[in-house]
Amino acid sequence: MNDGGQPRWGIVGTANIARAQFLPALRQAGGVAAAVASRELAAAAEFAATNEIERAVAGYEALITDPSIDVLYIPLPNALHAEWTIRALEAGKPVLCEKPLCGRLPDTERVLAAAERTGTLLWEAFVFPFHAQLRAIRKLLADGAVGELVEIKSNFHFPLRNPANIRLSSQLQGGALLDVGCYPVRLAQELFGPTYVGAWAHAAMGGDGVDVDTWGVLDYPHGRRLMLSCGLGRGYDTFTTLEGTAGQIRVTNPFHPGPSDTYQVVSAGAATLTFSAAGLEPSFTAAVRHIQEVIRGDAHPRQLAVETSLPTARALADLTVSLLDNSVSA
Ligand SMILES: NC(=O)c1ccc[n+]([C@@H]2O[C@H](COP(=O)([O-])OP(=O)(O)OC[C@H]3O[C@@H](n4cnc5c(N)ncnc54)[C@H](OP(=O)(O)O)[C@@H]3O)[C@@H](O)[C@H]2O)c1
Repeated sequence: MNDGGQPRWGIVGTANIARAQFLPALRQAGGVAAAVASRELAAAAEFAATNEIERAVAGYEALITDPSIDVLYIPLPNALHAEWTIRALEAGKPVLCEKPLCGRLPDTERVLAAAERTGTLLWEAFVFPFHAQLRAIRKLLADGAVGELVEIKSNFHFPLRNPANIRLSSQLQGGALLDVGCYPVRLAQELFGPTYVGAWAHAAMGGDGVDVDTWGVLDYPHGRRLMLSCGLGRGYDTFTTLEGTAGQIRVTNPFHPGPSDTYQVVSAGAATLTFSAAGLEPSFTAAVRHIQEVIRGDAHPRQLAVETSLPTARALADLTVSLLDNSVSA
Protein backbone atom coordinates (compact mmCIF):
# COMPACT_ATOMS: atom_id res chain seq x y z
CA MET A 1 0.00 0.00 0.00
CA ASN A 2 1.16 3.57 -0.48
CA ASP A 3 1.32 6.13 2.34
CA GLY A 4 -2.35 6.96 1.80
CA GLY A 5 -3.29 3.29 2.30
CA GLN A 6 -4.13 2.75 -1.39
CA PRO A 7 -3.17 -0.51 -3.13
CA ARG A 8 -0.29 -0.39 -5.57
CA TRP A 9 -1.33 -1.82 -8.95
CA GLY A 10 0.86 -3.64 -11.44
CA ILE A 11 -0.25 -3.85 -15.08
CA VAL A 12 0.73 -6.97 -17.04
CA GLY A 13 1.34 -5.90 -20.67
CA THR A 14 1.15 -2.58 -22.47
CA ALA A 15 -2.43 -3.07 -23.62
CA ASN A 16 -4.59 -0.46 -25.27
CA ILE A 17 -7.42 -1.10 -22.80
CA ALA A 18 -5.07 -0.35 -19.89
CA ARG A 19 -4.27 3.06 -21.37
CA ALA A 20 -7.76 3.93 -22.59
CA GLN A 21 -10.03 2.67 -19.80
CA PHE A 22 -8.29 1.13 -16.80
CA LEU A 23 -5.79 3.90 -15.99
CA PRO A 24 -8.30 6.81 -16.17
CA ALA A 25 -10.59 4.82 -13.86
CA LEU A 26 -7.72 3.97 -11.51
CA ARG A 27 -6.87 7.67 -11.21
CA GLN A 28 -10.49 8.56 -10.57
CA ALA A 29 -10.68 5.87 -7.89
CA GLY A 30 -7.55 7.26 -6.22
CA GLY A 31 -5.42 4.19 -6.97
CA VAL A 32 -1.70 3.95 -7.59
CA ALA A 33 -0.31 2.92 -11.01
CA ALA A 34 2.92 1.51 -9.56
CA ALA A 35 4.39 -0.52 -12.44
CA VAL A 36 3.80 -1.87 -15.91
CA ALA A 37 5.50 -4.97 -17.35
CA SER A 38 6.10 -5.77 -20.99
CA ARG A 39 7.82 -8.53 -22.89
CA GLU A 40 10.20 -5.72 -23.96
CA LEU A 41 11.63 -3.34 -21.37
CA ALA A 42 11.65 -0.48 -23.92
CA ALA A 43 7.92 -0.89 -24.53
CA ALA A 44 7.23 -0.90 -20.79
CA ALA A 45 9.41 2.22 -20.34
CA GLU A 46 7.60 4.12 -23.07
CA PHE A 47 4.17 3.04 -21.79
CA ALA A 48 5.13 4.02 -18.22
CA ALA A 49 6.40 7.43 -19.34
CA THR A 50 3.37 8.30 -21.50
CA ASN A 51 0.82 7.03 -18.98
CA GLU A 52 2.32 8.32 -15.71
CA ILE A 53 3.11 4.89 -14.27
CA GLU A 54 5.84 4.89 -11.63
CA ARG A 55 8.03 2.07 -12.95
CA ALA A 56 8.68 -0.14 -15.99
CA VAL A 57 9.47 -3.83 -15.57
CA ALA A 58 10.96 -6.32 -18.06
CA GLY A 59 8.89 -9.49 -18.24
CA TYR A 60 5.58 -10.39 -16.62
CA GLU A 61 7.05 -12.80 -14.03
CA ALA A 62 9.20 -10.08 -12.46
CA LEU A 63 6.10 -7.94 -11.90
CA ILE A 64 3.99 -10.78 -10.57
CA THR A 65 6.58 -11.70 -7.94
CA ASP A 66 7.44 -8.09 -7.03
CA PRO A 67 6.67 -7.73 -3.29
CA SER A 68 5.91 -3.99 -3.62
CA ILE A 69 2.90 -4.72 -5.84
CA ASP A 70 -0.45 -5.38 -4.09
CA VAL A 71 -2.77 -6.22 -6.99
CA LEU A 72 -2.45 -7.03 -10.70
CA TYR A 73 -4.45 -6.01 -13.75
CA ILE A 74 -4.05 -8.58 -16.57
CA PRO A 75 -5.15 -7.23 -19.98
CA LEU A 76 -3.33 -9.77 -22.15
CA PRO A 77 -4.76 -11.50 -25.25
CA ASN A 78 -7.40 -14.06 -24.23
CA ALA A 79 -5.15 -17.07 -24.89
CA LEU A 80 -2.68 -15.86 -22.24
CA HIS A 81 -5.17 -15.13 -19.45
CA ALA A 82 -5.05 -18.61 -17.90
CA GLU A 83 -1.28 -18.95 -17.68
CA TRP A 84 -0.59 -15.52 -16.21
CA THR A 85 -3.62 -15.39 -13.95
CA ILE A 86 -2.75 -18.76 -12.42
CA ARG A 87 0.86 -17.63 -11.90
CA ALA A 88 -0.34 -14.43 -10.24
CA LEU A 89 -2.78 -16.27 -7.96
CA GLU A 90 -0.06 -18.73 -6.98
CA ALA A 91 2.17 -15.77 -6.13
CA GLY A 92 -0.61 -14.62 -3.78
CA LYS A 93 -1.54 -11.52 -5.80
CA PRO A 94 -5.19 -10.50 -6.20
CA VAL A 95 -6.05 -10.21 -9.90
CA LEU A 96 -8.40 -8.24 -12.09
CA CYS A 97 -8.21 -10.27 -15.33
CA GLU A 98 -9.70 -8.97 -18.53
CA LYS A 99 -12.81 -10.56 -19.98
CA PRO A 100 -13.42 -13.22 -21.01
CA LEU A 101 -11.61 -14.85 -18.09
CA CYS A 102 -10.44 -17.45 -20.63
CA GLY A 103 -11.33 -18.29 -24.20
CA ARG A 104 -11.69 -22.04 -23.50
CA LEU A 105 -13.82 -23.66 -20.80
CA PRO A 106 -11.14 -26.07 -19.47
CA ASP A 107 -8.83 -23.07 -18.96
CA THR A 108 -11.57 -21.22 -17.09
CA GLU A 109 -12.01 -24.23 -14.85
CA ARG A 110 -8.25 -24.39 -14.18
CA VAL A 111 -8.13 -20.69 -13.29
CA LEU A 112 -11.12 -20.93 -10.97
CA ALA A 113 -9.61 -24.00 -9.32
CA ALA A 114 -6.41 -22.00 -8.73
CA ALA A 115 -8.42 -19.17 -7.17
CA GLU A 116 -10.19 -21.66 -4.87
CA ARG A 117 -6.96 -23.50 -4.01
CA THR A 118 -4.94 -20.39 -3.23
CA GLY A 119 -7.82 -18.43 -1.67
CA THR A 120 -6.61 -15.42 -3.64
CA LEU A 121 -9.08 -12.82 -4.88
CA LEU A 122 -9.89 -12.88 -8.59
CA TRP A 123 -12.24 -10.70 -10.62
CA GLU A 124 -13.11 -10.93 -14.33
CA ALA A 125 -13.23 -7.43 -15.81
CA PHE A 126 -16.91 -7.24 -16.59
CA VAL A 127 -17.28 -3.84 -15.00
CA PHE A 128 -20.95 -3.16 -15.78
CA PRO A 129 -22.32 -5.22 -12.86
CA PHE A 130 -20.62 -2.70 -10.55
CA HIS A 131 -22.09 0.32 -12.34
CA ALA A 132 -25.02 2.33 -10.97
CA GLN A 133 -26.92 1.88 -14.24
CA LEU A 134 -27.36 -1.88 -13.77
CA ARG A 135 -28.46 -1.33 -10.18
CA ALA A 136 -31.12 1.14 -11.37
CA ILE A 137 -32.32 -1.21 -14.11
CA ARG A 138 -32.55 -4.10 -11.66
CA LYS A 139 -34.72 -1.91 -9.40
CA LEU A 140 -37.02 -0.96 -12.30
CA LEU A 141 -37.43 -4.66 -13.14
CA ALA A 142 -38.00 -5.62 -9.51
CA ASP A 143 -40.61 -2.85 -9.18
CA GLY A 144 -42.46 -4.26 -12.20
CA ALA A 145 -41.91 -1.19 -14.39
CA VAL A 146 -42.25 -3.35 -17.54
CA GLY A 147 -43.92 -6.44 -16.10
CA GLU A 148 -41.97 -9.68 -16.16
CA LEU A 149 -38.71 -9.73 -18.13
CA VAL A 150 -39.08 -12.33 -20.89
CA GLU A 151 -36.55 -11.44 -23.59
CA ILE A 152 -33.25 -9.61 -23.90
CA LYS A 153 -32.17 -8.39 -27.33
CA SER A 154 -28.59 -7.22 -27.07
CA ASN A 155 -26.00 -5.99 -29.57
CA PHE A 156 -22.30 -5.38 -29.30
CA HIS A 157 -20.67 -4.38 -32.58
CA PHE A 158 -17.74 -2.16 -33.39
CA PRO A 159 -15.57 -1.66 -36.48
CA LEU A 160 -12.13 -3.28 -36.31
CA ARG A 161 -9.76 -1.77 -38.87
CA ASN A 162 -6.30 -3.22 -38.07
CA PRO A 163 -5.82 -6.69 -39.60
CA ALA A 164 -3.05 -7.38 -37.04
CA ASN A 165 -5.44 -6.88 -34.10
CA ILE A 166 -5.42 -9.71 -31.52
CA ARG A 167 -9.19 -10.14 -32.08
CA LEU A 168 -8.60 -11.55 -35.59
CA SER A 169 -6.20 -14.25 -34.36
CA SER A 170 -7.55 -17.72 -33.62
CA GLN A 171 -4.28 -18.60 -31.87
CA LEU A 172 -4.82 -15.72 -29.42
CA GLN A 173 -8.49 -16.76 -29.03
CA GLY A 174 -9.98 -13.75 -30.76
CA GLY A 175 -13.35 -13.57 -32.47
CA ALA A 176 -16.46 -11.49 -31.94
CA LEU A 177 -18.23 -13.84 -29.56
CA LEU A 178 -15.37 -13.99 -27.07
CA ASP A 179 -14.47 -10.32 -27.48
CA VAL A 180 -17.88 -8.62 -27.36
CA GLY A 181 -20.57 -11.31 -27.50
CA CYS A 182 -19.53 -12.22 -23.97
CA TYR A 183 -21.21 -8.97 -22.79
CA PRO A 184 -24.80 -9.86 -23.77
CA VAL A 185 -24.16 -13.35 -22.37
CA ARG A 186 -23.06 -11.90 -19.05
CA LEU A 187 -25.98 -9.45 -19.02
CA ALA A 188 -28.42 -12.35 -19.46
CA GLN A 189 -26.71 -14.17 -16.60
CA GLU A 190 -27.12 -11.07 -14.42
CA LEU A 191 -30.83 -10.71 -15.23
CA PHE A 192 -32.05 -14.30 -15.87
CA GLY A 193 -29.63 -16.16 -13.59
CA PRO A 194 -26.93 -18.74 -14.31
CA THR A 195 -29.07 -21.57 -15.73
CA TYR A 196 -29.74 -21.60 -19.47
CA VAL A 197 -31.22 -24.60 -21.23
CA GLY A 198 -30.03 -24.27 -24.83
CA ALA A 199 -27.58 -22.40 -27.05
CA TRP A 200 -27.60 -21.72 -30.79
CA ALA A 201 -25.32 -19.45 -32.81
CA HIS A 202 -24.39 -18.72 -36.40
CA ALA A 203 -21.41 -16.70 -37.63
CA ALA A 204 -19.54 -15.38 -40.60
CA MET A 205 -15.85 -16.19 -40.25
CA GLY A 206 -12.89 -13.93 -41.06
CA GLY A 207 -9.40 -13.04 -39.82
CA ASP A 208 -7.41 -16.25 -39.65
CA GLY A 209 -10.47 -18.32 -38.79
CA VAL A 210 -12.40 -16.44 -36.11
CA ASP A 211 -16.06 -15.42 -36.03
CA VAL A 212 -16.42 -11.78 -37.09
CA ASP A 213 -20.21 -11.38 -37.41
CA THR A 214 -22.16 -13.51 -35.02
CA TRP A 215 -25.73 -13.95 -33.87
CA GLY A 216 -27.28 -16.40 -31.49
CA VAL A 217 -29.79 -17.33 -28.84
CA LEU A 218 -29.48 -18.56 -25.28
CA ASP A 219 -32.68 -20.24 -24.08
CA TYR A 220 -33.66 -19.92 -20.45
CA PRO A 221 -36.41 -21.78 -18.59
CA HIS A 222 -40.06 -20.83 -19.34
CA GLY A 223 -39.31 -19.48 -22.81
CA ARG A 224 -37.18 -16.59 -21.65
CA ARG A 225 -34.32 -15.89 -24.05
CA LEU A 226 -31.32 -13.83 -24.93
CA MET A 227 -31.03 -12.88 -28.60
CA LEU A 228 -27.54 -11.55 -29.20
CA SER A 229 -25.79 -9.98 -32.14
CA CYS A 230 -22.10 -9.10 -32.13
CA GLY A 231 -19.37 -8.37 -34.59
CA LEU A 232 -16.17 -6.65 -35.58
CA GLY A 233 -17.39 -4.99 -38.80
CA ARG A 234 -20.26 -2.57 -38.09
CA GLY A 235 -20.43 0.83 -36.42
CA TYR A 236 -20.31 0.92 -32.61
CA ASP A 237 -23.64 -0.41 -31.36
CA THR A 238 -24.47 -1.70 -27.91
CA PHE A 239 -28.22 -1.07 -28.09
CA THR A 240 -30.10 -3.48 -25.86
CA THR A 241 -33.82 -3.96 -25.29
CA LEU A 242 -35.18 -5.61 -22.17
CA GLU A 243 -38.62 -6.87 -23.19
CA GLY A 244 -41.14 -7.25 -20.41
CA THR A 245 -44.72 -8.47 -20.47
CA ALA A 246 -45.89 -4.86 -20.01
CA GLY A 247 -43.22 -2.75 -21.72
CA GLN A 248 -39.58 -2.32 -22.59
CA ILE A 249 -36.42 -0.88 -21.13
CA ARG A 250 -34.26 0.44 -23.98
CA VAL A 251 -30.62 0.80 -23.00
CA THR A 252 -28.20 2.55 -25.35
CA ASN A 253 -25.13 1.04 -23.65
CA PRO A 254 -25.55 -1.42 -20.77
CA PHE A 255 -21.83 -2.30 -20.79
CA HIS A 256 -19.78 0.88 -20.91
CA PRO A 257 -22.21 3.78 -20.43
CA GLY A 258 -20.81 7.19 -21.30
CA PRO A 259 -22.11 10.70 -20.67
CA SER A 260 -24.55 10.65 -23.61
CA ASP A 261 -26.02 7.21 -22.89
CA THR A 262 -29.55 6.72 -21.63
CA TYR A 263 -32.02 4.07 -20.59
CA GLN A 264 -35.70 4.49 -21.30
CA VAL A 265 -38.77 2.87 -19.85
CA VAL A 266 -41.52 2.48 -22.45
CA SER A 267 -44.87 1.04 -21.47
CA ALA A 268 -48.32 1.26 -23.02
CA GLY A 269 -50.48 4.04 -21.61
CA ALA A 270 -47.64 5.71 -19.67
CA ALA A 271 -45.28 8.52 -20.57
CA THR A 272 -41.87 7.30 -21.66
CA LEU A 273 -39.28 7.86 -18.93
CA THR A 274 -35.71 8.67 -19.97
CA PHE A 275 -32.76 8.48 -17.59
CA SER A 276 -29.15 9.50 -18.05
CA ALA A 277 -26.99 6.38 -17.73
CA ALA A 278 -23.61 7.40 -16.56
CA GLY A 279 -22.87 10.83 -15.24
CA LEU A 280 -19.25 11.55 -15.97
CA GLU A 281 -17.60 8.56 -14.32
CA PRO A 282 -15.70 6.16 -16.64
CA SER A 283 -17.34 2.74 -16.76
CA PHE A 284 -14.39 1.00 -15.06
CA THR A 285 -14.31 3.28 -12.01
CA ALA A 286 -16.88 1.59 -9.78
CA ALA A 287 -15.23 -1.81 -10.26
CA VAL A 288 -11.74 -0.49 -9.51
CA ARG A 289 -13.03 1.39 -6.46
CA HIS A 290 -14.67 -1.78 -5.14
CA ILE A 291 -11.52 -3.88 -5.60
CA GLN A 292 -9.47 -1.28 -3.76
CA GLU A 293 -11.97 -1.20 -0.88
CA VAL A 294 -11.75 -4.99 -0.60
CA ILE A 295 -7.95 -5.01 -0.65
CA ARG A 296 -7.86 -2.30 2.02
CA GLY A 297 -10.20 -4.46 4.11
CA ASP A 298 -13.04 -1.93 3.91
CA ALA A 299 -15.56 -4.06 1.96
CA HIS A 300 -16.60 -7.66 1.37
CA PRO A 301 -15.84 -8.81 -2.17
CA ARG A 302 -18.65 -8.89 -4.70
CA GLN A 303 -18.73 -10.39 -8.20
CA LEU A 304 -15.72 -12.64 -7.60
CA ALA A 305 -14.81 -14.85 -10.56
CA VAL A 306 -15.36 -18.00 -8.48
CA GLU A 307 -19.00 -16.93 -8.03
CA THR A 308 -19.77 -15.54 -11.48
CA SER A 309 -17.45 -16.68 -14.28
CA LEU A 310 -18.36 -20.32 -14.87
CA PRO A 311 -21.90 -19.88 -16.29
CA THR A 312 -20.62 -17.25 -18.73
CA ALA A 313 -17.75 -19.51 -19.80
CA ARG A 314 -20.10 -22.48 -20.27
CA ALA A 315 -22.52 -20.43 -22.35
CA LEU A 316 -19.68 -19.08 -24.52
CA ALA A 317 -18.38 -22.63 -25.00
CA ASP A 318 -21.83 -23.92 -26.03
CA LEU A 319 -22.40 -20.96 -28.38
CA THR A 320 -18.93 -21.56 -29.89
CA VAL A 321 -19.68 -25.23 -30.60
CA SER A 322 -22.90 -24.19 -32.30
CA LEU A 323 -21.38 -21.39 -34.39
CA LEU A 324 -18.54 -23.64 -35.57
CA ASP A 325 -21.20 -26.08 -36.82
CA ASN A 326 -23.08 -23.27 -38.56
CA SER A 327 -20.33 -20.92 -39.76
CA VAL A 328 -20.05 -19.36 -43.22
CA SER A 329 -17.21 -17.35 -44.84
CA ALA A 330 -17.37 -13.58 -44.35
N1 LIG B 1 -13.24 -4.80 -20.29
C1 LIG B 1 -13.24 -4.12 -21.42
O1 LIG B 1 -13.99 -3.18 -21.61
C2 LIG B 1 -12.24 -4.47 -22.49
C3 LIG B 1 -12.07 -3.63 -23.58
C4 LIG B 1 -11.09 -3.94 -24.52
C5 LIG B 1 -10.34 -5.10 -24.36
N2 LIG B 1 -10.58 -5.92 -23.32
C6 LIG B 1 -9.79 -7.15 -23.13
O2 LIG B 1 -8.47 -6.76 -22.78
C7 LIG B 1 -7.53 -7.67 -23.33
C8 LIG B 1 -6.53 -6.88 -24.16
O3 LIG B 1 -7.19 -6.20 -25.21
P1 LIG B 1 -6.46 -4.95 -25.95
O4 LIG B 1 -7.28 -4.60 -27.12
O5 LIG B 1 -6.18 -3.89 -24.96
O6 LIG B 1 -5.12 -5.68 -26.44
P2 LIG B 1 -3.76 -5.06 -27.01
O7 LIG B 1 -3.82 -3.57 -27.07
O8 LIG B 1 -3.43 -5.81 -28.25
O9 LIG B 1 -2.73 -5.42 -25.84
C9 LIG B 1 -2.45 -6.73 -25.47
C10 LIG B 1 -1.08 -6.72 -24.79
O10 LIG B 1 -0.74 -8.08 -24.52
C11 LIG B 1 0.67 -8.25 -24.64
N3 LIG B 1 0.92 -9.46 -25.42
C12 LIG B 1 1.53 -10.58 -24.96
N4 LIG B 1 1.62 -11.49 -25.91
C13 LIG B 1 1.07 -10.97 -27.02
C14 LIG B 1 0.90 -11.46 -28.35
N5 LIG B 1 1.28 -12.68 -28.72
N6 LIG B 1 0.32 -10.63 -29.24
C15 LIG B 1 -0.09 -9.40 -28.88
N7 LIG B 1 0.05 -8.89 -27.63
C16 LIG B 1 0.63 -9.67 -26.71
C17 LIG B 1 1.24 -7.00 -25.28
O11 LIG B 1 1.98 -6.32 -24.27
P3 LIG B 1 3.58 -6.33 -24.24
O12 LIG B 1 4.03 -6.39 -25.68
O13 LIG B 1 3.88 -5.04 -23.60
O14 LIG B 1 4.04 -7.49 -23.45
C18 LIG B 1 0.03 -6.18 -25.68
O15 LIG B 1 0.21 -4.81 -25.48
C19 LIG B 1 -8.36 -8.71 -24.09
O16 LIG B 1 -8.61 -9.81 -23.26
C20 LIG B 1 -9.66 -8.01 -24.37
O17 LIG B 1 -10.78 -8.88 -24.49
C21 LIG B 1 -11.50 -5.61 -22.38
